[in-house]
Amino acid sequence: MTIPSQMTHVAAEGAGGPDVLRLVTGPVPVPRPDEVLIRVLAAGVNRPDIVQRQGLYPPPPTASPLLGLEVAGEVVAAGAEVAGLQAGDRVCALTNGGGYAEYCVAPAAQCLPWPDGYDAVQAAALPETYFTVWANVFMLGRLARGESLLVHGGSSGIGVTAIQLAEAFGSTVYATAGSDAKVAACERLGAAAGINYRSADFLDEIKRLTDGRGVDVVLDMVGAPYFPRNLRCLAMDGRLVQIAFLHGAKVGEFDLTPVMVRRLTITGSTMRPRTTAQKGAIAAQLRERVWPVLDHGRCGPVIHATFPLAEVAAAHALMESGAHIGKIVLRVAA
Ligand SMILES: NC(=O)c1ccc[n+]([C@@H]2O[C@H](COP(=O)([O-])OP(=O)(O)OC[C@H]3O[C@@H](n4cnc5c(N)ncnc54)[C@H](OP(=O)(O)O)[C@@H]3O)[C@@H](O)[C@H]2O)c1
Repeated sequence: MTIPSQMTHVAAEGAGGPDVLRLVTGPVPVPRPDEVLIRVLAAGVNRPDIVQRQGLYPPPPTASPLLGLEVAGEVVAAGAEVAGLQAGDRVCALTNGGGYAEYCVAPAAQCLPWPDGYDAVQAAALPETYFTVWANVFMLGRLARGESLLVHGGSSGIGVTAIQLAEAFGSTVYATAGSDAKVAACERLGAAAGINYRSADFLDEIKRLTDGRGVDVVLDMVGAPYFPRNLRCLAMDGRLVQIAFLHGAKVGEFDLTPVMVRRLTITGSTMRPRTTAQKGAIAAQLRERVWPVLDHGRCGPVIHATFPLAEVAAAHALMESGAHIGKIVLRVAA
């Protein structure tokens, strides 16, 4: 196909609320030697996009300044060093920004095929949460079959994927969420028990549900107010994996004793600053271990809502309202 020189993409007119987002015309990006150019059919919306729009999460210097961390579409051009991908291939990709656009580049190493039977919206909903959950829960957190996991924010895009994958890989999952409807959704997705954190203390509930033992891994995005209780609900050799601080990063006094006595590991990571090789290594594990599970339909994305690209501000407003369960996806082209 002929690749145009100009495209429609989303731009933010300064930092602020969803109303700073506009559709504008700009140049189609040119792939580097290790990248492909993708004609975008759908793009996922993620909480880091909200924080970037607010001006609080500047992209790394080598990344696109445009919003959008994941897309699904069709490869239309490939850089000289790309092997194994060619024009016409349907891929979903963890991008280095720029997904809210008609065309987007991504390193070939960060592309994966659409699982069997998927459409563009479903495929676009995969990369950000699957890369993040695999890297943090399984690689960093070393969650193993037969172990238990507590997921905070169980109805978030990340939370849904964490519940599904941990359950599919043989773990017992507990999840917190902010309403009874969200708790019920977590349980339908495979959590052994959901905990409404507004009406119950998650530490008490975890102790009760595990007969006082605690869980092996906690995946947390809440931060400081949960930190002491996260440590207290970890079992011997437990791991706390921190992927965000929605309610603050600064912890006041806390007791180090459980870290030593129960041999706890406190860790965490971000995805964006990782190198292409590091993201490619995660993609390789996803392709080998997780994509077959998706191909068989044993788990998959939960799409809460889709919006046309022109309604990106409404998509951001919905995510900020917190009413969603699962993913919000932008439809970019038919
Ligand atoms: N480190 C990384 O590599 C990485 C990568 C991607 C995303 N993230 C982070 O992961 C988080 C989720 O991202 P997302 O895109 O899935 O966003 P999202 O769908 O908007 O999820 C945010 C969730 O936080 C929950 N929450 C807020 N306060 C809570 C509390 N006190 N206890 C339990 N849950 C609470 C909300 O649920 P309720 O309505 O139930 O409160 C909501 O489900 C974001 O903070 C994002 O920045 C990190």
